[in-house]
Amino acid sequence: MSNALKEYLGFCQNRVESALEARLPSGQLLPQKLHQAMRYSVLDGGKRMRPMLTYCAGKTLGIAAESLDGPACAVEFIHAYSLIHDDLPAMDDDDLRRGKATCHVAYDQATAILAGDALQALAFEILANDPSIKTSTENRLKMITALAKASGSQGMVGGQAIDLQSVGTKLNLPELENMHIHKTGALIRASVIMATLAKDDIDPAVATKLDHYAKCIGLSFQVKDDILDEESDTATLGKTQGKDKDNDKPTYPALLGLAGAKQKAQELHEKALDSLGIFGKEADLLRDLSLYIIQRTH
Ligand code: IPE
Ligand code: IPE
Ligand code: MG
Ligand code: MG
Ligand code: MG
Repeated sequence: MSNALKEYLGFCQNRVESALEARLPSGQLLPQKLHQAMRYSVLDGGKRMRPMLTYCAGKTLGIAAESLDGPACAVEFIHAYSLIHDDLPAMDDDDLRRGKATCHVAYDQATAILAGDALQALAFEILANDPSIKTSTENRLKMITALAKASGSQGMVGGQAIDLQSVGTKLNLPELENMHIHKTGALIRASVIMATLAKDDIDPAVATKLDHYAKCIGLSFQVKDDILDEESDTATLGKTQGKDKDNDKPTYPALLGLAGAKQKAQELHEKALDSLGIFGKEADLLRDLSLYIIQRTH
């Protein structure tokens, strides 16, 4: 990872940790178990890749980090909710997440379902109300629409439905790509779209290029997740290695082999760089982030 990226990610990591903490209800507030479960699943863990993308895209556009805390937290709350539900016995049935017991194991299934539901609602409350968002009301509404679409049946939830109905079947490459674009790509794309909406006068051509970049890295992120599930180890991942094979999931390594999946990730990284061609040095963080996504170890 480049030094510039390391430094900026460190800054964003601190920023997003306190922004998330400040927006979560206290664990002492009733119903305590629910609020504690929400805090347990959001705080102390996770790479915070989606908030990082919001901040890095914003920095490329000259937008201050202070006005991106709202969308950065909103997308991380949706992501945390998606992981809580993804780990449930009815879905991937995982008991380890971010190096600790999954929410339904640490609490119980009903609490995990409700914690996910409540995090989703909190994300939209933040977009509707958070004082950090300084953009026009019109753009605020566009942020809400973008995150809602990316989260719903034609976004992340739709991708999760395809994932579950594909267990034990063989998807072809376009079908696999479609599943990944929805289950993971949509939220990653929304992280960047919301940054472009934090500025009122953005050039539509610039927004289109950033959106294309986000599409490429959204897919490469899940390709790499599939690769890591196959070739990493449980301690490094903080989640149980080898679950995709155990659950008979269609993945990039399953279809293309490990070398083919790595090749695909590299191609997507190059496409992401191409999309940033109109930018100068101000997009270097985004370039470095794309490389980090395909080189990361967890
Ligand atoms: C894991 O996401 C699930 C996918 C969508 C691939 P991350 O790898 O971003 O998980 P955390 O937030 O760092 O734990
Ligand atoms: C999860 O994909 C995608 C979402 C949660 C939306 P995976 O099922 O591959 O994620 P991990 O590997 O459990 O983190
Ligand atoms: Mg899953
Ligand atoms: Mg899973
Ligand atoms: Mg996975």
